[in-house]
Amino acid sequence: MPEAANNLDAKDYGIGIPQSTEGFFLKGHSHLDWGMKDRLARIFNPKSGHTVMLAFDHGYIMGPTSGLERMDLTIVPLIPYADCLMCTRGALRQIVPPTCNKPISLRASAGSTILTDLNDECILSMEECLRLNASMVALMVAVGSTFEALTIRNLTTMVDQGSRYNVPVLGVTAVGKDLVRDARYLSLATRVCAENGAHVVKTYYCETDFEKVTAACPVPIVIAGGKKLPERDALQMAYEAIDQGAAGVDMGRNVFQAESPIAMLQAVRAVVHDGEKPEKAFEMYRQTKG
Ligand code: R5P
Repeated sequence: MPEAANNLDAKDYGIGIPQSTEGFFLKGHSHLDWGMKDRLARIFNPKSGHTVMLAFDHGYIMGPTSGLERMDLTIVPLIPYADCLMCTRGALRQIVPPTCNKPISLRASAGSTILTDLNDECILSMEECLRLNASMVALMVAVGSTFEALTIRNLTTMVDQGSRYNVPVLGVTAVGKDLVRDARYLSLATRVCAENGAHVVKTYYCETDFEKVTAACPVPIVIAGGKKLPERDALQMAYEAIDQGAAGVDMGRNVFQAESPIAMLQAVRAVVHDGEKPEKAFEMYRQTKG
C-alpha cells in the first residue's frame, strides 16, 4: 500500500499538450470497448491493418482432409508464421501447443458433416470459448440455405454472449451447393452478418466487383482460400482481395496443401502485410521452397 504522507508533489501535468484520442484502425470498430479492441488488435496487425489467419478447422465437417491427416506434423510447424489460428476446440486441445501464444479464432459452431445437410448447427457456450482463451469465435452463417434462420439466430446469440465478455464474433458465410459465389450474393451474405453484429466476416473472393462486396460491408472482411489452386494463382487471389479492400486472409487448403506450406505462408504474408505483387511473392515462394 502506498504511504499516505511525505510523497513527492505531483507536477507533470503536460499543460498545453492535448491528451491524444486515438481512433481504432479497423473499420466499423471505433466504438467498441477496450477488451474487444485488444482482442481484435491481437488478430489484425495494427501496423498493416491486416491479418494472415491459418484455417485448419476443416475436419469438423470433412474429416481428415488432405494435409490435415496428422495436424501435429503438418500444422504445428506452420504456427509461427500465422497471425491467428482458426480451429476447432478439439484441434486446439489436442495439437496446438498452449505455449505458442497465438490468438485463436475458435470454430464455435458444429452440427453436420459433408455426409448430411450442411449448416444445421448449434453453438458452443461462451463459457467454453473463454475457458479456451479464444480471441474470436467463428460460426457459420448460411444465408439463402435451408438453415438460414437457424444460423442467423446462432449469430445473434453468439454476438449477445460475446458482447457480454468482449469477445468478437467472426461470421463465416457458407456457400451451399446451389448458391453462386458472385458479388451480388456475397454482398448480401456479408452485409447480413455485419448487420446482425458480426465483428469480422469471412467470405470468398469473386473476380467481378469484389470491391463492392468489401465497400458495402461495414466491418473487416477476410477471405477463405477455397479449393487448392496453383500457388501462383492463390497469391494472385490474395493480392486482388487485399487490393480491393479485404483486411486479410483466413486460408487453409492453399497453404497446408501447397508443395511447401511454410514457404507459401511466408509468401502470403508478403502479399497481405507488405503489399508485394503476386509475381514477386511467387518468386519468394520458389526461392524459399528451394
Ligand atoms: C469454412 O467454413 C471453414 O472455416 C473452412 O475450414 C475454411 O473456410 C476453409 O479454408 P480454405 O477454404 O482456405 O481451405
